[in-house]
Amino acid sequence: MSGKKVLLIFGTRPEAIKMAPLVIELKKHDEFEPIVCVSAQHRQMLDQVLELFDIKPDFDLDIMKENQNLWSLTSDILLKTKDVIERTKPAVVLVHGDTTTALASSLSAFYAKVPIGHVEAGLRTFDKYYPFPEEINRVVADSVSSYHFAPTDEAVENLKKSAISSENIVKTGNTVIDALLYTAENKPSNLDYLNLNKNLKTILMTSHRRENFGKPLETICDAILELVEKNSNIQVVYPVHLNPNVRDVVFRKLSNHERIILTEPMEYAPFVTMMNKADIILTDSGGIQEEAPSLKKPVLVLRDTTERPEAVKSGAVKLVGTSKEKIVDETQKLLDSKQHYEKMLSGENPYGDGRASERIIKFLSEKL
Ligand code: UD1
Ligand code: UDP
Repeated sequence: MSGKKVLLIFGTRPEAIKMAPLVIELKKHDEFEPIVCVSAQHRQMLDQVLELFDIKPDFDLDIMKENQNLWSLTSDILLKTKDVIERTKPAVVLVHGDTTTALASSLSAFYAKVPIGHVEAGLRTFDKYYPFPEEINRVVADSVSSYHFAPTDEAVENLKKSAISSENIVKTGNTVIDALLYTAENKPSNLDYLNLNKNLKTILMTSHRRENFGKPLETICDAILELVEKNSNIQVVYPVHLNPNVRDVVFRKLSNHERIILTEPMEYAPFVTMMNKADIILTDSGGIQEEAPSLKKPVLVLRDTTERPEAVKSGAVKLVGTSKEKIVDETQKLLDSKQHYEKMLSGENPYGDGRASERIIKFLSEKL
């Protein structure tokens, strides 16, 4: 007898990293038949992750276009996932997080009246434009889902406040910690190709949020330039996202400094090694805010709000926004004061223990 069909739909790098442990774990359970559909909202950055975790999608919608817009992205995913859902007739569709793939594929499953499980449910800033469009994407995905896999207590509380029944909410931890631990243990990698100077402190930085496009990203780059000018003992490593709105600004502003190393997006395994090597991380990424506290690295978040307040409370993450002065001052404090640096690392990692996928599967096993 074949197992119950679990259709996992995802499309971007972070969704792939966070759904991969679930695909790997589901394959160990005969009672389930995992079916993977990638929207390929990202192409190269998705493929890097699929290869690392040895995932061969059953359906590849291949929809990415150069500098795509939200309208066509949403409608392409909505229409193409309709066919996949109709052909596979799954017992449940699993979607992840807050991307356009999560929004459109959950809506698609809702229209087909197939139950949806939302992985990384319940995150909120309660500000519909920050982050844009992710806050509304996750609200919609939560609204149409039947099962809610919430990473933390705060996420559980947010869901309860939205009148979602407690019996369909499970606190699981975040699957990103499953991915991080799996990668650190099974996928060793080295960074020789970056030619880092071992005698310098290393700042790792990433930035890609739509609300930071234009002036805020220019200002972030100016802050980086000021920091490397003021501190001859630091180097900055910046793997630049493939979004042209990011690349145009970053390469124009930061290409010509010998202690600023701009790279292509790094494969996940070397990126984990890179996070481990970094002294300080500056980012507007969601996933990195969750991984860094596990690796005991201080993170300055280049945003004014976060849907991940837990690590801000535990101390490992600080919101610094996009003002040049604030970014420079807060980074300088971390560079200058050992006490301040160590204080940021004294709290617990609030995002999980590496067993989130197991808990999701246990719940599905009981429900389906
Ligand atoms: C998307 C998500 C964002 C998530 C981020 C993770 C939405 C609206 N945005 O933002 O929530 O935090 O992914 O990185 O869902 N590109 C490539 N190759 C790739 C990936 C992107 O060339 O592998 C370029 C393409 O020109 C593409 C553009 O980047 O059109 C934008 O991609 P898109 O997924 O729309 O936005 P992101 O900024 O990546
Ligand atoms: N990441 C990666 N290579 C990079 C930069 C990031 O593998 O060059 C990983 C990172 O460890 C995290 C995820 O990608 O797990 C975060 O993705 P991104 O920042 O694109 O999206 P977000 O988390 O903000 O949605």
